[in-house]
Amino acid sequence: MPGIPVIAIDGPSGSGKGVVAERVAKALGFHLLDSGALYRVLGLAAHLKNLNLEQDQALAELARTLDIGFGENGPDSVSLDGRDVSLDIRSALGSDMASRVGAIPAAREALFERQLLFRQAPGLVADGRDMGTFVFPDAVVKIFLTASVEERAKRRYKQLIAKGIDAILPALLRDLKERDARDSERAVSPLQPAPDATILDTTEMSEETVVARVLELVKAGLPNL
Ligand code: C5P
Repeated sequence: MPGIPVIAIDGPSGSGKGVVAERVAKALGFHLLDSGALYRVLGLAAHLKNLNLEQDQALAELARTLDIGFGENGPDSVSLDGRDVSLDIRSALGSDMASRVGAIPAAREALFERQLLFRQAPGLVADGRDMGTFVFPDAVVKIFLTASVEERAKRRYKQLIAKGIDAILPALLRDLKERDARDSERAVSPLQPAPDATILDTTEMSEETVVARVLELVKAGLPNL
Protein backbone atom coordinates (compact mmCIF):
# COMPACT_ATOMS: atom_id res chain seq x y z
CA MET A 1 0.00 0.00 0.00
CA PRO A 2 2.84 2.43 -0.58
CA GLY A 3 1.53 5.62 -2.11
CA ILE A 4 -1.07 6.04 0.62
CA PRO A 5 0.27 8.90 2.78
CA VAL A 6 1.29 8.21 6.36
CA ILE A 7 1.83 10.83 9.05
CA ALA A 8 4.06 9.29 11.74
CA ILE A 9 3.79 10.72 15.25
CA ASP A 10 6.28 9.18 17.65
CA GLY A 11 7.42 9.99 21.15
CA PRO A 12 7.56 8.80 24.75
CA SER A 13 4.52 8.10 26.94
CA GLY A 14 2.66 11.19 28.02
CA SER A 15 4.10 13.36 25.25
CA GLY A 16 0.52 13.93 24.12
CA LYS A 17 0.95 12.02 20.87
CA GLY A 18 -2.23 9.95 21.36
CA VAL A 19 -4.56 12.92 21.63
CA VAL A 20 -2.71 14.87 18.98
CA ALA A 21 -2.74 11.93 16.54
CA GLU A 22 -6.46 11.47 17.10
CA ARG A 23 -7.24 15.12 16.46
CA VAL A 24 -4.98 15.32 13.41
CA ALA A 25 -6.55 12.15 11.92
CA LYS A 26 -10.00 13.59 12.45
CA ALA A 27 -9.06 16.95 10.90
CA LEU A 28 -7.63 15.21 7.82
CA GLY A 29 -10.27 12.46 7.56
CA PHE A 30 -7.46 9.87 7.82
CA HIS A 31 -7.42 6.48 9.55
CA LEU A 32 -5.70 6.22 12.92
CA LEU A 33 -3.29 3.61 14.24
CA ASP A 34 -2.68 3.68 18.00
CA SER A 35 0.18 1.17 17.91
CA GLY A 36 0.65 1.43 21.69
CA ALA A 37 -2.82 -0.07 22.10
CA LEU A 38 -1.67 -3.16 20.15
CA TYR A 39 1.28 -3.62 22.52
CA ARG A 40 -0.99 -3.01 25.49
CA VAL A 41 -3.58 -5.58 24.37
CA LEU A 42 -0.83 -8.11 23.65
CA GLY A 43 0.68 -7.50 27.10
CA LEU A 44 -2.71 -7.89 28.76
CA ALA A 45 -3.52 -11.06 26.78
CA ALA A 46 -0.13 -12.56 27.70
CA HIS A 47 -0.80 -11.75 31.34
CA LEU A 48 -4.31 -13.26 31.28
CA LYS A 49 -2.96 -16.43 29.69
CA ASN A 50 -0.14 -16.55 32.20
CA LEU A 51 2.28 -16.76 29.32
CA ASN A 52 5.95 -16.97 30.15
CA LEU A 53 7.46 -14.07 28.17
CA GLU A 54 10.55 -16.12 27.54
CA GLN A 55 8.48 -18.36 25.26
CA ASP A 56 8.82 -15.86 22.47
CA GLN A 57 7.33 -18.05 19.74
CA ALA A 58 4.14 -18.55 21.76
CA LEU A 59 4.03 -14.79 22.31
CA ALA A 60 4.48 -14.14 18.58
CA GLU A 61 1.68 -16.59 17.78
CA LEU A 62 -0.55 -14.82 20.29
CA ALA A 63 0.33 -11.48 18.65
CA ARG A 64 -0.58 -12.81 15.20
CA THR A 65 -3.91 -14.29 16.26
CA LEU A 66 -5.13 -11.75 18.84
CA ASP A 67 -8.72 -10.71 18.29
CA ILE A 68 -8.43 -6.96 18.81
CA GLY A 69 -11.28 -4.57 18.06
CA PHE A 70 -11.15 -0.79 17.82
CA GLY A 71 -14.25 1.35 18.32
CA GLU A 72 -16.60 -1.62 18.79
CA ASN A 73 -17.91 -0.46 22.17
CA GLY A 74 -17.94 3.26 21.49
CA PRO A 75 -15.37 5.71 20.13
CA ASP A 76 -11.81 5.13 21.46
CA SER A 77 -12.79 1.71 22.84
CA VAL A 78 -10.47 -1.26 22.52
CA SER A 79 -11.60 -4.86 22.87
CA LEU A 80 -9.91 -8.23 23.28
CA ASP A 81 -11.92 -11.28 22.18
CA GLY A 82 -14.99 -9.04 22.09
CA ARG A 83 -14.54 -7.85 25.70
CA ASP A 84 -14.04 -4.13 26.33
CA VAL A 85 -10.51 -3.73 27.76
CA SER A 86 -10.18 0.04 27.23
CA LEU A 87 -9.57 0.67 30.94
CA ASP A 88 -7.52 -2.48 31.68
CA ILE A 89 -4.94 -1.69 29.02
CA ARG A 90 -4.37 1.80 30.49
CA SER A 91 -3.75 0.49 34.03
CA ALA A 92 -0.23 0.36 35.51
CA LEU A 93 -0.18 -3.38 34.80
CA GLY A 94 -1.25 -2.78 31.18
CA SER A 95 1.52 -0.19 30.71
CA ASP A 96 4.15 -2.38 32.28
CA MET A 97 3.19 -5.47 30.27
CA ALA A 98 3.11 -3.43 27.03
CA SER A 99 6.67 -2.27 27.48
CA ARG A 100 7.80 -5.79 28.45
CA VAL A 101 6.33 -7.42 25.34
CA GLY A 102 7.56 -4.44 23.30
CA ALA A 103 11.14 -5.39 24.18
CA ILE A 104 10.74 -8.87 22.63
CA PRO A 105 11.79 -8.98 18.94
CA ALA A 106 9.44 -11.86 17.96
CA ALA A 107 6.45 -9.94 19.35
CA ARG A 108 7.44 -6.77 17.49
CA GLU A 109 7.83 -8.69 14.26
CA ALA A 110 4.36 -10.23 14.61
CA LEU A 111 2.77 -6.87 15.37
CA PHE A 112 4.68 -5.23 12.50
CA GLU A 113 2.55 -7.08 9.91
CA ARG A 114 -0.66 -6.10 11.65
CA GLN A 115 0.34 -2.45 11.73
CA LEU A 116 0.93 -2.31 7.97
CA LEU A 117 -2.72 -3.29 7.39
CA PHE A 118 -3.86 0.03 8.85
CA ARG A 119 -2.41 1.89 5.85
CA GLN A 120 -5.59 2.52 3.94
CA ALA A 121 -6.87 5.32 1.70
CA PRO A 122 -7.14 8.21 2.00
CA GLY A 123 -4.27 8.13 4.52
CA LEU A 124 -3.08 7.13 7.97
CA VAL A 125 -1.95 8.91 11.11
CA ALA A 126 0.19 6.40 13.02
CA ASP A 127 1.13 6.99 16.65
CA GLY A 128 3.83 5.08 18.49
CA ARG A 129 7.54 4.76 19.14
CA ASP A 130 8.90 3.47 15.84
CA MET A 131 6.36 4.59 13.26
CA GLY A 132 8.77 6.90 11.42
CA THR A 133 11.91 4.84 11.98
CA PHE A 134 10.77 1.30 11.33
CA VAL A 135 7.11 0.58 10.53
CA PHE A 136 6.51 3.40 8.02
CA PRO A 137 9.98 4.68 7.10
CA ASP A 138 8.45 6.24 3.95
CA ALA A 139 5.98 8.35 5.99
CA VAL A 140 5.56 11.68 4.26
CA VAL A 141 5.56 13.62 7.53
CA LYS A 142 7.44 12.48 10.66
CA ILE A 143 6.99 14.16 13.97
CA PHE A 144 8.63 13.34 17.28
CA LEU A 145 6.74 14.80 20.23
CA THR A 146 8.47 15.06 23.55
CA ALA A 147 8.13 16.85 26.90
CA SER A 148 9.90 16.78 30.25
CA VAL A 149 9.26 13.59 32.23
CA GLU A 150 7.63 15.60 35.07
CA GLU A 151 5.21 17.26 32.65
CA ARG A 152 4.42 13.91 31.01
CA ALA A 153 3.68 12.32 34.39
CA LYS A 154 1.32 15.20 35.23
CA ARG A 155 -0.51 14.78 31.92
CA ARG A 156 -0.87 11.04 32.38
CA TYR A 157 -2.16 11.64 35.91
CA LYS A 158 -4.86 14.02 34.67
CA GLN A 159 -5.82 11.63 31.86
CA LEU A 160 -6.23 8.69 34.23
CA ILE A 161 -8.19 10.65 36.81
CA ALA A 162 -10.48 11.96 34.05
CA LYS A 163 -11.15 8.35 33.03
CA GLY A 164 -11.99 7.43 36.61
CA ILE A 165 -8.78 5.40 37.08
CA ASP A 166 -6.94 5.79 40.42
CA ALA A 167 -3.47 7.27 40.09
CA ILE A 168 -0.61 8.45 42.30
CA LEU A 169 1.65 11.07 40.76
CA PRO A 170 5.02 9.98 42.25
CA ALA A 171 4.31 6.35 41.26
CA LEU A 172 3.44 7.47 37.71
CA LEU A 173 6.66 9.47 37.51
CA ARG A 174 8.72 6.47 38.63
CA ASP A 175 6.92 4.15 36.17
CA LEU A 176 7.42 6.59 33.29
CA LYS A 177 11.15 6.84 34.02
CA GLU A 178 11.41 3.04 34.09
CA ARG A 179 9.49 2.68 30.83
CA ASP A 180 11.48 5.46 29.16
CA ALA A 181 14.67 3.62 30.05
CA ARG A 182 13.34 0.26 28.82
CA ASP A 183 11.92 1.77 25.59
CA SER A 184 15.12 3.71 24.81
CA GLU A 185 17.61 1.01 25.69
CA ARG A 186 16.04 -2.01 24.02
CA ALA A 187 17.93 -3.57 21.14
CA VAL A 188 15.06 -3.55 18.62
CA SER A 189 13.31 -0.36 17.52
CA PRO A 190 14.47 1.72 20.49
CA LEU A 191 12.62 4.96 21.09
CA GLN A 192 14.47 7.56 19.07
CA PRO A 193 13.50 10.20 16.51
CA ALA A 194 13.93 9.36 12.82
CA PRO A 195 16.77 11.42 11.34
CA ASP A 196 14.21 13.21 9.14
CA ALA A 197 11.64 13.82 11.92
CA THR A 198 10.65 17.26 13.18
CA ILE A 199 11.12 17.30 16.96
CA LEU A 200 8.52 19.25 18.94
CA ASP A 201 9.12 19.79 22.65
CA THR A 202 5.59 20.28 23.96
CA THR A 203 6.46 20.94 27.64
CA GLU A 204 5.30 24.54 27.35
CA MET A 205 2.81 24.08 24.51
CA SER A 206 -0.97 23.70 24.74
CA GLU A 207 -2.64 20.78 22.96
CA GLU A 208 -4.26 23.31 20.62
CA THR A 209 -0.89 24.77 19.60
CA VAL A 210 0.64 21.32 19.04
CA VAL A 211 -2.25 20.21 16.80
CA ALA A 212 -2.02 23.45 14.79
CA ARG A 213 1.75 23.04 14.39
CA VAL A 214 1.40 19.41 13.28
CA LEU A 215 -1.28 20.36 10.74
CA GLU A 216 1.08 23.04 9.37
CA LEU A 217 3.79 20.41 8.93
CA VAL A 218 1.29 18.09 7.21
CA LYS A 219 0.30 20.90 4.84
CA ALA A 220 3.94 21.48 3.98
CA GLY A 221 4.48 17.74 3.36
CA LEU A 222 1.22 17.18 1.49
CA PRO A 223 0.52 20.45 -0.34
CA ASN A 224 -2.25 18.90 -2.47
CA LEU A 225 -4.33 17.76 0.46
O1 C5P B 1 2.05 4.66 23.49
P1 C5P B 1 1.74 3.84 24.72
O2 C5P B 1 2.15 4.48 26.00
O3 C5P B 1 0.32 3.38 24.74
O4 C5P B 1 2.63 2.52 24.56
C1 C5P B 1 2.72 1.55 25.57
C2 C5P B 1 4.02 0.78 25.45
O5 C5P B 1 4.02 0.00 24.24
C3 C5P B 1 5.27 1.64 25.36
O6 C5P B 1 5.83 1.93 26.63
C4 C5P B 1 6.22 0.82 24.52
O7 C5P B 1 7.00 -0.05 25.31
C5 C5P B 1 5.32 -0.04 23.66
N1 C5P B 1 5.25 0.45 22.28
C6 C5P B 1 6.25 0.10 21.43
N2 C5P B 1 6.22 0.48 20.12
C7 C5P B 1 5.18 1.21 19.65
C8 C5P B 1 4.13 1.60 20.53
C9 C5P B 1 4.20 1.22 21.86
O8 C5P B 1 7.20 -0.55 21.83
N3 C5P B 1 5.14 1.53 18.37
